[in-house]
Amino acid sequence: MNIIVLGSSAGGGFPQWNCSCNNCKGFRSGKIKARARTQSSIAIELNNHQWVLINASPDIHHQLLAQKLTPSPKKIRNNPLAAIILTDSQLDHTAGLLLLREDKPLSVYATQSVCYDLTHDFPIMNVLSHYCGVKLNTISVGDNADFTVENNDHLVFTPIPLHSNAPPYSRHRDKTVPGDNIGLLISDKNTNKKLFYAPGIEMVDATLLKLMNEVDCLLIDGTVWHNDELARAGVGTTLATAMGHMPLSGEQGLISHLNTLATPRKILVHINNTNPILNEDSPERAELSRFNIEVGYDGMEIQL
Ligand code: MLT
Ligand code: MN
Ligand code: ZN
Repeated sequence: MNIIVLGSSAGGGFPQWNCSCNNCKGFRSGKIKARARTQSSIAIELNNHQWVLINASPDIHHQLLAQKLTPSPKKIRNNPLAAIILTDSQLDHTAGLLLLREDKPLSVYATQSVCYDLTHDFPIMNVLSHYCGVKLNTISVGDNADFTVENNDHLVFTPIPLHSNAPPYSRHRDKTVPGDNIGLLISDKNTNKKLFYAPGIEMVDATLLKLMNEVDCLLIDGTVWHNDELARAGVGTTLATAMGHMPLSGEQGLISHLNTLATPRKILVHINNTNPILNEDSPERAELSRFNIEVGYDGMEIQL
């Protein structure tokens, strides 16, 4: 399985256009060692010039060009994105769909509650029906929810319902139902390798930890270091957990759970611009290295 991290940042990207927090200011002035990052998305290669996109960020054009996810040169018009799977209906994971309006119907896979948001509270599917149209495939979060995408059967996708939050615009905000947020277990039948991708996760339980322990690689929510990080950085008051993201640090933080797992690769994605781990010289970054936890970056390629 060939995976590429198209965007490793949370909503807003890094540096964020309107932000002069220590990280964003430090990056612009060259005072801190850090990489710029676009918004949260990954892709998995199916074959030559065909990819499965997981989440469609507003930075999609830049990401496709930067990571060479290009159309085949053999046909004048063709779409390199064979399928698009959404893990939630947040703007940073869905607004990019609007930028893909030029092709024939997009093939989108999402849960019923994400489909609802995208046809009601943020009706981009309705808007797109006047352009390329969307073939909306509803995925389930119950038993036997495995699915494959068209023209490919070696990658099997299993949606895993997660505790997180729905977007601020959604009627499910703070009143979530299963399917508002999923992680994706992706199994390659050819190689028997497994990836678990979960960019938004507020809580882990024993069942989820068991699943995470049995995969070859995790691409997982590295949004914030501290739960009150927005307040510490002077950019807001909302707690990370209220937004649906568990902090990395602390007794019950994600690192404490990751440290119990035998998973060969543990890689953080969806990193907010306030997170001290963006600074490659920070003590927090050194702590991750000691625990063998990697920090995802745009263009990171993972072969399983
Ligand atoms: C999130 O991951 O919680 C959202 O993308 C936040 C946002 O809308 O910026
Ligand atoms: Mn997000
Ligand atoms: Zn910032």
